[in-house]
Formats: sequence, C-alpha cells, structure tokens
Amino acid sequence: MTDLLIRGRVLSFLREPEGVEDRASYRFEEDGAVLVREGRIVAVGDHAAVRAQARPDATLADHRPHLVMPGFIDAHVHMPQMQVIASYGAELLDWLNDYTFPEETRFSDAQHGRRIVRLFLDEAIRHGTTTVAAYCSVHKASAEAFFEESHARDMLNIAGKVMMDRNAPEGLTDTPQSGYDDTRALIAAWHGKGRQLYAITPRFAITSSPEQLEMAGALAAEHPDCHVQTHLSENHAEIRWTRELYPQARDYTDVYARYGLLGGRSLFGHCIHLSDREADAMAEAGGVAVFCPTSNLFLGSGLFDYQRYRRRDKRLRVATATDVGGGTNYSMLRTMDEAYKVIALQGEKLDPLRSFWQLTRGNAEALSIVDRAGTLEPGTDADIVILDAAATPAMSIRNERVTTLAQELFLLQTLGDDRAVKAVYVAGRSAKG
Ligand code: GUN
Ligand code: ZN
Repeated sequence: MTDLLIRGRVLSFLREPEGVEDRASYRFEEDGAVLVREGRIVAVGDHAAVRAQARPDATLADHRPHLVMPGFIDAHVHMPQMQVIASYGAELLDWLNDYTFPEETRFSDAQHGRRIVRLFLDEAIRHGTTTVAAYCSVHKASAEAFFEESHARDMLNIAGKVMMDRNAPEGLTDTPQSGYDDTRALIAAWHGKGRQLYAITPRFAITSSPEQLEMAGALAAEHPDCHVQTHLSENHAEIRWTRELYPQARDYTDVYARYGLLGGRSLFGHCIHLSDREADAMAEAGGVAVFCPTSNLFLGSGLFDYQRYRRRDKRLRVATATDVGGGTNYSMLRTMDEAYKVIALQGEKLDPLRSFWQLTRGNAEALSIVDRAGTLEPGTDADIVILDAAATPAMSIRNERVTTLAQELFLLQTLGDDRAVKAVYVAGRSAKG
C-alpha cells in the first residue's frame, strides 16, 4: 500500500477539555496533515513537516479547507432496528413489544441479517461513524453476518449476539445454555480477528433469567478482555419490573453486579435514573454509562444528568450513542446536538470542545480502545472523518459569522448531519467521498 497524505485543518484531542479556552487539550493545525501507512497513522502535524516524512509516491488527498478529525464512535446502537426507527407513540416496554421484538424476529433469516448489516454499516460510514458498539439479534447468524461484513470492511467494531431467554416472543429467545454456547463460539471465531471485538450482550435484566445472567457472568469471567453491554435504568416501568424479578438485589445496578457483569469493560445503555448508591457502585467498578439523548427524548425515558455524573466525587465514565432504533438519527452530530439540549434542560451547558472530545477520544476511552481509535496519534489506526461546516445553505450562511474553532464545531453539531461528512477513511482506505 502506498502512503496516503491527508491534508486539511487537523483537529484531535489529547485529553478531556476543561472549557473552550483549554488550548492544551487538543492539537489543531490550520495547514495540517495526517500521514497514513498500511492503515495506520505514522505522522500528524504541520503539513510541510508531515509531507517531508511521506514517501515520494504518496497519494495526496487535499481536503482543505475542511476539518480532518478522528472518525466518530457510536457506543450503543441496534443493528436489527433499521426498520424500527421512527415507530410512533410508545414508551420503552410497549415499544419493545409492539415494534422491536417483531422486527428482530425476522433475523432468524440469515439472508435478511446479511442485507441489513450491509445497509447498517453503510449508514454508519455515511454519517462519519467508523466504530460502533452494536447489538445484533438473538440469532447467532445475525452476529456472524455483522462480523463478516465488518471484517471485510476492516472496521474496528464491537458487537455481540443478544442473550434473552424470557419475556419475549417465541422465536426471539435462546436458553441459558444455548446463549452461552453461541456466545462462546462467536468469541472464538471473531474476538480479536482483524479489528473485531466481541461484547457479551445480555439484553437487559427483564429478558434474562437469573440462570442466563449467571452464564453471562461466567462468560465475562472467562473472557475478561471482551466487553459486556446491556441496558440499565432507562424507564420507570422497566425499573419496577426488574426489582420484582430480582427481589434479592439492592437495586437495578446490583442485579448486574451480583452476576459479575459490572466491570471496566461493561457498557450500560441509558443509566438515567441511577441512585447515588448505584452511581457510586458504577464509578467504583469503572462501568460506563452510555448517554443516548435522541432515544431518551423519543421514548420519553428521561433526562440523563451528564454534568452530575461527570462532576460527582466518584466520577462516572460516560459515553454517548445513537441507540438507533429507539434513537432517531444515525448521526453523532445530531446526537450531540440533542445531548446539548438535554443538558440545557437541566440548567447546564456542554461546551463544543468537550462535545467533540466526547464523540471521538472520550468514547474511545470509554470503550477502552483509545490506543487504536478516537485520536490521530501516530501508531493508531487511520479511521478519519472530513467535515465541512458550510455543507448546506443554512450552514454556509451561518458560517460567515464564525471566527473561532469552537464556534465552527458548535455550528457543525447544531446544523450538521451526514451532509457535513465529506469523506471517511477506514483503516486508511477511502470509504466515503
Ligand atoms: N432495553 C432493552 N432492549 C432495548 C432496546 O432495544 N432499545 C432500548 N432503547 N432499550 C432497550
Ligand atoms: Zn439500546
């Protein structure tokens, strides 16, 4: 593979910004470049300096005056819900029963799974998302389809077959033993193959028996480098029912903790209604609370208290995500715009630097993949997005008044979507643009 020299206005975060004035938290080069060799970033910085390191036959990709950033990371999304998104009028449990479970039943057909996976990864890339943590359906074949397609595209993705053995329609359940066996086989086949990572995926406490959560915990203990992903404290009716199903547990978080599912690689979708005790337990174990703003608003689940979780003495690790199809958009720009509004409704602000840190390096840290993705640091994989803050007429006219990088980012977040994503590189190869 020849060298690839990507030129543009390069932005990447070095740590979490403390505010819009925190210049030391990021690297920004007005005339910058990223040098890519064999799928990895080998140099980043001033264009002239980086160019001097490129081999003479390097391919040049001149994206001036656009921003060059790490690809976006979506920390919680449901591949089988492409035909569920935009379903009208229900809260979580009805929404699952009326729309989601019937749709996921279709994934018993492996051919259907392969079709949706292709379209799903196309859509992620089109929106500038180069890594997802994805739920497949209960069917082993849906996860096989996901990993086959993801591997063929050389994407760094985390995914798992959903485990669910009760409170769901026939045709959408496994058993503790089959869920364990299928997951184990999928881990053996796919975890660490190329860029693929496996997440042990019990859907949530309501759809898993105690026996199944025990098996999920055994898998997590046997495969400590795999992620665990599930849902936690999204909706009041869900919380009530969970407490009835697990009366011995102190609270909802304790259900997962008891079965060994609360650890540093555990990703918990939603976490809206956590008590202080639950937040403490999460923080102590290093679990990640995944904020899914478009979904939380759409399903009327509640307002995730991002600033409370980040400011408390025992800080929570937080990621952000679309949660399509409860979420209403594939775009992480649209997601952070809604995050801003959810936070504003609670009397707080999320500044644009922190927002763009979150959807790149912040999410990579939360997913424990920051040594590979989420920055433009040399040695990491070249997953890169090119962003145009004047992509539409409305953006272009507003952009005439933009004078700072923070303003440009806020414009991208507030008005941007897939149209602002001019190009995408996955492991150094052009995937859009
Ligand atoms: N809780 C359990 N399953 C789901 C799901 O598919 N979407 C959301 N938003 N919450 C869930
Ligand atoms: Zn979800």
